[in-house]
Amino acid sequence: MATLLPGEPEDIRLLAEWLHADGVVAVPTETVYGLAGNARSSDACRKIFRVKGRPYWDPLIVHVGSQQMAEEIVEWNEEAQRLAQAFWPGPLTLILQGRGLVAQEVTAGHTTVAVRMPDHPLFLALLEKSGLPLAAPSANPFGYLSPTCAEDVQRTLGDRLEYILDGGPCRVGVESTIVDLSRADPVILRPGALGAEALSKVLSRPVLNGWNEAVVERSQAPGLAAWHYSPVKPLRLWDSTREPIPPCQEGERVLLTATPMGGEGKGTSLFTGLQSDIQQVARNLYHALLEADCDPDCKSIVVELPVGNGALQDALIQRLKKAAARY
Ligand code: TXA
Ligand code: MG
Repeated sequence: MATLLPGEPEDIRLLAEWLHADGVVAVPTETVYGLAGNARSSDACRKIFRVKGRPYWDPLIVHVGSQQMAEEIVEWNEEAQRLAQAFWPGPLTLILQGRGLVAQEVTAGHTTVAVRMPDHPLFLALLEKSGLPLAAPSANPFGYLSPTCAEDVQRTLGDRLEYILDGGPCRVGVESTIVDLSRADPVILRPGALGAEALSKVLSRPVLNGWNEAVVERSQAPGLAAWHYSPVKPLRLWDSTREPIPPCQEGERVLLTATPMGGEGKGTSLFTGLQSDIQQVARNLYHALLEADCDPDCKSIVVELPVGNGALQDALIQRLKKAAARY
């Protein structure tokens, strides 16, 4: 099992040294927990891929503690400046042309690099103390659910890690919005808490939703695999705006995101949030899925699709569809 560190100054010192020695460590962010290592070190980055079981063709996001560090790694421009000023630190990843200063494992052969400044005091303290750019994918085995608290990292990767920096539950609960600024027009490659509307406003021009419009070639979209974010147990999606709640089987767990408590049938209903509070749904969803997946009494899972329009709804629906694509 990994040691959980609460983030005291001596913990941050120890982990900064650990990172300088090419160690990897699970860290809290406002979105999901990440698995961090020195982005300039091939050894550290290979460890990240090994621990996750991630294929080498899937590039990593580089986390920075300051805009200056981002400017060293990528070719900064006016639009990056505007977005960073509006949303960093925060759940927004920018893709820009790289400057050849990170390990080649980070970019998986792309000329671009993804950069983001996370909004979590402990991760920011570690970035500052180490002075390193830190490559960090979500801290889950490849293809599995992302962890949103230290205990969930421990459950799925604890036996492959020495340390987990425990920063409590994640405030957002779904991975960052990824916007590609390396093209003629800005394109969102992965939806997150910040949507096209918010980004367009800051850039004063349209931002395309690349994950659901055919503007992005498959080879350039994140989460390339046909399924992703998936529990091991069978997962069904339920669209409550179109059909009544499906009859539940014995051992089936129903996660409600819009309909108030009280699903029918033999399955157990679990509440992940209210339609009126999509932030709450986002904060709880991955954890509720993981709980159901780890519960020996649960045989299969049904999730009600979030209802309503908004960036977070889009992000959660995209994740759930990818998760269910396995079945
Ligand atoms: O919120 C987040 O972004 C979390 C936390 C830990 O920061 N990180 C995260 O990383 O979700 P990961 O590795 O699970 O997802 C990053 C995605 C990958 O699917 C990858 O394909 C894409 O970012 N990506 C990274 N660099 C890219 C690039 N240069 N071009 C296109 N996609 C890229
Ligand atoms: Mg991930």
